[in-house]
Amino acid sequence: MSSIFDQSVFLQHLNTQWLGHSIRYFEELESTNTYLKKLSLQEIEHGQICLTDHQTRGRGQYERKWESEKGQNLTFSLVLTPADTGRFHVLTLACALAIVEKLNEFLNASCAAIKWPNDIILNDKKTAGILTETVFTGNSFDRLILGIGLNMNQQKFSDELDDIATSVSLEKGELINREQFLADLLNRIEYKYTTWEQQQSSLIKTINRNIIGYGQWVGLKIDDELQDELFKLLGIDENGALLMLNRDGGIDSFSYEQIQLVTN
Ligand code: BTN
Repeated sequence: MSSIFDQSVFLQHLNTQWLGHSIRYFEELESTNTYLKKLSLQEIEHGQICLTDHQTRGRGQYERKWESEKGQNLTFSLVLTPADTGRFHVLTLACALAIVEKLNEFLNASCAAIKWPNDIILNDKKTAGILTETVFTGNSFDRLILGIGLNMNQQKFSDELDDIATSVSLEKGELINREQFLADLLNRIEYKYTTWEQQQSSLIKTINRNIIGYGQWVGLKIDDELQDELFKLLGIDENGALLMLNRDGGIDSFSYEQIQLVTN
């Protein structure tokens, strides 16, 4: 049974300074990222969110589809217009960290982690993903869109996803109040945004501690080619590049587009 997102419950629990006060809700939409990308510069504001109960063309990373059962989950995007137009992957990871911390608190266990580059894993299965996109007008940056798909109350996944996907409800064993969960999550995301803006070194350290494989020897695919040797995952640097120690003792640095980790 699908349900409609109740904006009044959401607003009751929202405790942010600027994030999520302006909300565009649609029962159905092609994609919340696509919608926010198409708005004119005059129509957007920092901290605005777009949320829908059903995406007809939800998009994931690497041009994949994002499937989500109608009225069960959270599919939403945030508009951010930071003054600093770099380090966007750190910001995406800061958001992933907010989700991980919220899940661990909610489930009262250390069961969530970040799978590089920006998936959120709960008890070894994917429960959320982030699609970050930028919009430029000519050469000038005008907005960052952070789209989040979070499986909340979905009980069944397609045969293709069944072994690799889960929802918060499946892990908790009860149905979840999506409105309250989202409000709490935005409270955390806003706080992480501030730590990102202030370039706090503790942010990078906490992100690293929550990346699957951190400090371990892992397999690596570079430009889709599996490497013969293992690399030790040293974590991200302040620009969001992934640092890997190679067997010769050298440190290689990779952008998230270049590599995929192969962890157990
Ligand atoms: C991934 O894991 O590949 C990223 C998935 C991101 C899905 C979200 S749902 C809300 C927003 N709108 C989209 O079309 N995609 C993102």
